[in-house]
Amino acid sequence: MATPSITVFPARKVSRINRNIYSGFTEHMGRCIYGGIYDPTNPNQDLVDADGFRKDVIDALKPLDIPVFRYPGGNFCATYHWQDGVGPRDQRPSRPELAWDNVETNHFGTDEFMAWCRAVHAEPYLCLNFGTGTLDEAMAWVEYCNGTKDTYYANLRRKNGHDEPYKVRYWALGNEMWGSWQVNQMTQEAYAERALQWAKALKLLDPTIQLVLCGKEGATSWDYHTLKHCLQPAGRSDLGEDRVPLIDMHSIHLYTASDEHYENVTAPLAAERSIEVCAGLIDLALVENGIPPAQKRPTICFDEWNVWLPTRAVGSRGAEETYTLSDALAVAVWLNVLVRKSRDVGMACIAQSVNVISPLMTTEHGLVRQTTWWPYELFCRFMKGHQVAVHVECDAYAGPTKPGWVRALKPTPWLDVSATLDDDGWVNVCVVNIHAEHDLKTALGGVEASQGEVYTVTGPNLKVTNMAGKEEVGLQKSEWDPNKSSTFVFPKSSITMLRWKTL
Ligand code: AHR
Repeated sequence: MATPSITVFPARKVSRINRNIYSGFTEHMGRCIYGGIYDPTNPNQDLVDADGFRKDVIDALKPLDIPVFRYPGGNFCATYHWQDGVGPRDQRPSRPELAWDNVETNHFGTDEFMAWCRAVHAEPYLCLNFGTGTLDEAMAWVEYCNGTKDTYYANLRRKNGHDEPYKVRYWALGNEMWGSWQVNQMTQEAYAERALQWAKALKLLDPTIQLVLCGKEGATSWDYHTLKHCLQPAGRSDLGEDRVPLIDMHSIHLYTASDEHYENVTAPLAAERSIEVCAGLIDLALVENGIPPAQKRPTICFDEWNVWLPTRAVGSRGAEETYTLSDALAVAVWLNVLVRKSRDVGMACIAQSVNVISPLMTTEHGLVRQTTWWPYELFCRFMKGHQVAVHVECDAYAGPTKPGWVRALKPTPWLDVSATLDDDGWVNVCVVNIHAEHDLKTALGGVEASQGEVYTVTGPNLKVTNMAGKEEVGLQKSEWDPNKSSTFVFPKSSITMLRWKTL
């Protein structure tokens, strides 16, 4: 194998990273809400605060500075009536829950979610019910959360003890409405027309909100049609307002997974291509709809991504994935993709944040950080500021991929890399060595530093997990003198975060 090389160009800023790409997702599904973030009846009451929230979950998530949490679903949204979940708890109705074959007690609802977001210092992002919900109901929710006038639903919020508006900025126009599993599945035409009309009304009610259109995987005719139909100019021309797009973001979803290591770790590259195609579709809709290029360009909201095999971790059984070292590498590649595509991605939400296909698991007695926690933590802490140019020379994996078209469009190099320059002058380079057999000694270029540090995530083998009562995969920090290092050895099956402070 030829000696690989990585050359970083810290002065060449490619795109500003919106920190919202490190957002989370909490759905009424399995043990995410009940037993995850909200656990008032846990026998170990030391773990629970006065609101019934898990203190250890808050203590784990808060330092990551996760900017936004999406709620209440997911598929759960399609039959959710938000008014069931506000007001005195003993008067809230229990309802059949159709998405995950459950009973929803409504003990946790809008006001509890807002309180929890405050506890973890994050912004809320709410998803509207496009299944059994109505526009009236959606408008009432916006009014309940954001209303400042003397109106019915704003007053209901005040009556429930919350004088100040929650100022919820992000609202999604439904979830996966194209899916056969969806209550009130829609055609692209029916969805797009409904989304357009709802968007107009919602922005009349509260022009400060940002609306997220329900796309599919990014590179589909559903994405093209919905963007073309809904990226209409908004703003009141009679008042001389700018003709900005009515829609602020376009949501896409993708889960990748395989029990075969190389398929598993190269599959996130499919998301990279989906983002590229989808960004092109956004531009095309703007051009075709005559929206001036200088106006605010909508971005992609990748509001569900992760490693998940639904046949391995079944949704109606709680979707509790047990993640391996191979999965940690796949999540690191996913995060590299989001950084590389940060020009086009305005938000991304790992699905999900606790217990359900999650890096963080609760037990009755405490927490387990799964293998995938560590790349997520590294990116939240360090991969901020601007994405900068990086040139990688490296041999590539040449075997099968999942989907099969990954390599038709993208190379699948042994070293998957992204690089950033943060606002404090630190360069951060994430290198994932997907090779299962070879450490890769690599020439490094572009390193001019006053100090450096290195973090490594690896483990004894690719199948190892952290769920068997022992943390087999963790984070190692080690010393590194960047000025004496023209090469670096990236261990097989590892994630390495190289950092140096620029001169
Ligand atoms: O995140 C789990 C589920 O996956 C979500 O509810 C749904 O939107 C997707 O299919």
